[in-house]
Amino acid sequence: MKVTVVGAGNVGATCADVLAQREVCNDVVLVDIKEGLSEGKALDIFQKSPINLYDTRTVGSTNDYTLTENSDVVVITSGLPRKPGMSRDDLIGTNAKIVESVTKNIIKHSPNSIIIIVSNPLDVMTYQAHITSNFDRNRVMGMAGILDTARYRAFIAGELNISPKDIQAVLLGGHGDTMVPLPRYTTVSGIPVTELINDKKLYEIIERTKFGGGELVKLMGTSAWYAPGAAAAQMVESIVKNQKRIFPVCVKLEGEYNIDDCYLGVPVILGSNGIEKVIELDLNSDEITLLEESRSHVKEVMSVLENL
Ligand code: NAI
Ligand code: 2OP
Repeated sequence: MKVTVVGAGNVGATCADVLAQREVCNDVVLVDIKEGLSEGKALDIFQKSPINLYDTRTVGSTNDYTLTENSDVVVITSGLPRKPGMSRDDLIGTNAKIVESVTKNIIKHSPNSIIIIVSNPLDVMTYQAHITSNFDRNRVMGMAGILDTARYRAFIAGELNISPKDIQAVLLGGHGDTMVPLPRYTTVSGIPVTELINDKKLYEIIERTKFGGGELVKLMGTSAWYAPGAAAAQMVESIVKNQKRIFPVCVKLEGEYNIDDCYLGVPVILGSNGIEKVIELDLNSDEITLLEESRSHVKEVMSVLENL
């Protein structure tokens, strides 16, 4: 199995490192436009293999896609990250061009690949990759829900002073301030979270989750990479190993949740065919209202892309 990661910056290099460390595939190709960057990072990850004991080979390429030939899965992280004061949506003009040109190269060399977008604004960059590739919706998806849910789960674990391993949760909607965490579907080893955390505290956790990306941008001057890189690698692993895990993933909705033709995060089954099934939850009226707000925001940004 061969996986290409485009963009050897913070998120891309972390994703490649996790893929190698977990031996998710035999080969990882890292591509970047900055001369030498991907070659250097790939070599560094390879030189770690005798220490951390893994067999996956990592190689780098400066914008030469012949090395990526016949990749099974491609993760696209190329593009600008946001700086303090910027929203993810402010990146659209620059990142849409980058995602378009990268996707063209990918489909030329790996016409049967499954594409996972990470670049922001996430839902709309996934739409861009779909327009450019013309791939069926099961083969073009975006990573955000695993990250947002992980932030939510980590905050719950912190509040309860327990292991994050025991927290199960799901989150819907776009990757932005309108994301929709679902306390009704959040459990701690099977115990509904609402029995363990009061409404006020849970509300604070949800608000912190919604602005979790911004919290890190404020602290570091750029956006996060450890959790995002690991989240993208987890999606790759479920596809490459046909694990059929259920994750919140950005996918083109075609009538599910009464939404058509919009990219939004919803729970899906991820296997060797990519998105194998979209899972429809039975939402209450408050949750439907929040999801509608999120849909309407993403649609607005989709129309900005269409008018670029
Ligand atoms: P970074 O600046 O560290 O890395 C981006 C890399 O893309 C750079 O090395 C740059 O040279 C490369 N690049 C630019 N144009 C390219 C092209 N045409 N072909 C190949 N490589 C190209 O940024 P970072 O932190 O890795 O973030 C990458 C993207 O991921 C940003 O758009 C960021 O907003 C997004 N992001 C999304 C998350 C999500 O949950 N979906 C989470 C974290 C970041
Ligand atoms: C994040 O949520 C910026 O989308 C990136 O960390």
